[in-house]
Amino acid sequence: MKKKHTKYIKINTDSINRSYICEAAEILRTGGLVAFPTETVYGLGANALDGKAVSTIFSAKGRPQDNPLIVHLARGEDVQALIAGDLPRQAKQLMEAFWPGPLTLVLPKGKAVPDEVSAGLDTVAVRVPAHPVALALIEEAGLPVAAPSANLSGRPSPTTAEHVYMDLNGRIDVILDGGPTNVGVESTVLDLTAAVPVILRPGGVMIEELKPLLGDVEMGSATSQSPAQKYKHYSPKVPMVLVEGERENVVAEIHRLVLGNREKGQTVGILAPSESAQFYRDLAMEGDPDGAVRLITLGSRNDLQAMASSLFTRLRLFDDLQADVVYIEGVEPEGAGLAIMDRLRHAAIRCITV
Ligand code: TXA
Ligand code: MG
Repeated sequence: MKKKHTKYIKINTDSINRSYICEAAEILRTGGLVAFPTETVYGLGANALDGKAVSTIFSAKGRPQDNPLIVHLARGEDVQALIAGDLPRQAKQLMEAFWPGPLTLVLPKGKAVPDEVSAGLDTVAVRVPAHPVALALIEEAGLPVAAPSANLSGRPSPTTAEHVYMDLNGRIDVILDGGPTNVGVESTVLDLTAAVPVILRPGGVMIEELKPLLGDVEMGSATSQSPAQKYKHYSPKVPMVLVEGERENVVAEIHRLVLGNREKGQTVGILAPSESAQFYRDLAMEGDPDGAVRLITLGSRNDLQAMASSLFTRLRLFDDLQADVVYIEGVEPEGAGLAIMDRLRHAAIRCITV
């Protein structure tokens, strides 16, 4: 891949500078790649109607060609132009309730959408993001914007523009820095093309919020061939082991594992909710640069949304940790915990239930 000059532009989200947005929108219109903030994670955008532009997203990220992209719109009304047939009633209700916001709907694909976006599927994923910079950019470009998360394929999704820079500098045209994202995990992906709606990926909108509107809803299982579940994701550079179960058992198991690593002279990381940190103090001195055991807290179990919002930043911290292995305590897979556990299970090389 030819190295590009990547322009880095800071945007004040309280008073958005129009000329920066116009510059980035022009790059989208002329087939370029623009990374921009959304409320979930940073996206890497291209003109969704230009198959050639869309294919450069895949090469910039090193993304498998058969993993389809979400199309981002500024308004719900714009969905109709991208789908086949009329907008289903259920989709309308969901759009009213959750857009702009972290819910992606999978619908039958219309002819306007190139195969590069849908990776050959006959469906298309759409959402309206709740972020002033994303909306201003899409609106100004006057185009639907295809955008995966703006990370190298397989890396944790970027929740800051610095993360995007680390992964994609030299590979894309522009990074719009609108500060850290708020939700911190990606959108919930909901397939409305089956008789019963299927959650292909838990995310920013919780299943408990969707249920009252949907009635019946199924979870796409981790083994399903749905593109949302098929690929290994979110891996930090250090191997991660997820330990789930009763808290006491989890703490005991992590102790056992860590002591085993210490015997071999290995360096270990532990990622645990703040309530559990006290149980590992005997193993680790937080912030001790020479310690062989590094403890990083994940935020409180009592605020899983805050935990979700800092999750990917925490995972990236392990990159610089140079640990041989990292152990992670699981959380309850309820509310925002469902998306957290989904990301952790994908990131882990091994999951242990005790
Ligand atoms: O919050 C988000 O969703 C972020 C921001 C940038 O909007 N985007 C994002 O995109 O996470 P990406 O490409 O990293 O994840 C999109 C997921 C993938 O798992 C993909 O397989 C699934 O959505 N997906 C996209 N189109 C689909 C389709 N037509 N059918 C089934 N799954 C689809
Ligand atoms: Mg992604």
